[in-house]
Amino acid sequence: MKPVANKINLSMDLKVLQHTVLHFKTIDSTNRFLLDAEDLLNGTVVLADDQTAGRGRFNRTWQSFPETALLFSILLNNLSIQKMPAVYTFLAAVGVYRGLRDSSPSGINLSLKWPNDVLLNGKKVCGILAQSKITAGRYEKLVIGIGLNVNQKRQFFVNDLERATSLAAESGFEWNRIGILNNVLAAIDYLLNVLRESGERPIIRTWQDACGSIGQEIAIDDGKEIYRGIFDSLSEDGGMRLRTKSGQKLFYAGDVTVLKE
Ligand code: BTN
Repeated sequence: MKPVANKINLSMDLKVLQHTVLHFKTIDSTNRFLLDAEDLLNGTVVLADDQTAGRGRFNRTWQSFPETALLFSILLNNLSIQKMPAVYTFLAAVGVYRGLRDSSPSGINLSLKWPNDVLLNGKKVCGILAQSKITAGRYEKLVIGIGLNVNQKRQFFVNDLERATSLAAESGFEWNRIGILNNVLAAIDYLLNVLRESGERPIIRTWQDACGSIGQEIAIDDGKEIYRGIFDSLSEDGGMRLRTKSGQKLFYAGDVTVLKE
């Protein structure tokens, strides 16, 4: 049987995103749903309380516990996605960063980690997975999937989740998930409009401003080798410039560890 969606209406003014969020109790993956769906409008948002086959980077699974996280995806299927696709990951990370900051008036220790994580107190609180469907050499659609850990208890983060956390595990109290969703979507909508009107540069600049590891000594594992150096800056197309002893190198994927702060 096909899962049935409820609807959540967003009351704020939106320029790119749709006002109606499709809300599933359980679904295999919100990214999968949007990659497979046809005839949905640009800017459609799908939210799930739980996923049975949540996907992370490098084909990893993305684990969840019902009604504790924000698991959602955004569909972009208009021409603007012909711009550098990596910029959408940076855009979503900045949107989560700003939305969380707006949700916590007493302050919160957030930073961004290349290429697609948001950290809280140095631990991963959110991961982003952008997936695309390409037809005849053109991006037919891009789906930005966001997994934001909100109310999971600290005990959830064991074994391979040891370097992750949730807002509740760090703060000691529960957060309003839909309130956060509203703030994050408002921030992402604003940034999508900035991208449309002013291009990639302001997005890359704001990402760099919030990144915790630019200028730091890091190690990057590109799947074949581990390189060490200073994270210099982002290139125009979202690559990571690393200053190593043997000169500058450019990376487009990899796992980063900060060595010295
Ligand atoms: C990462 O590995 O850091 C990226 C994780 C992305 C997880 C989200 S949860 C909502 C959306 N649906 C999925 O199946 N994955 C993304």
